[in-house]
Amino acid sequence: MVHDIGDELAPFSHSEFAATLLKPFVSEEIVLVIEKHGLFQAYYYAHHVGGDRHARDKYKDHPFYDQCVHFCEAWDQASFDPNYPTRSLNYFEPMVREVFSRRAH
Ligand SMILES: [Fe+2]
Repeated sequence: MVHDIGDELAPFSHSEFAATLLKPFVSEEIVLVIEKHGLFQAYYYAHHVGGDRHARDKYKDHPFYDQCVHFCEAWDQASFDPNYPTRSLNYFEPMVREVFSRRAH
């Protein structure tokens, strides 16, 4: 959801765009996962468009690697399933308000 914020403004660098916007409000680990999720998400489609689906492997030894793989597998990729059980935006509103009400760091 907010990890794709800015996709309209920065379609080729939306991961970095979103990470920059969220950085003052979330942990460093979350910033790293958001910043790299576009590359990690490519695992699911890059081989269909002539790309390298294993490009994420260059981060294999990085501490955020497993979290980013999990984020893409459990959430980002799963969201493309039209039958995925989704909740309404109202459900998420308090969580979004909580995050953006934090004192920026
Ligand atoms: Fe994305």
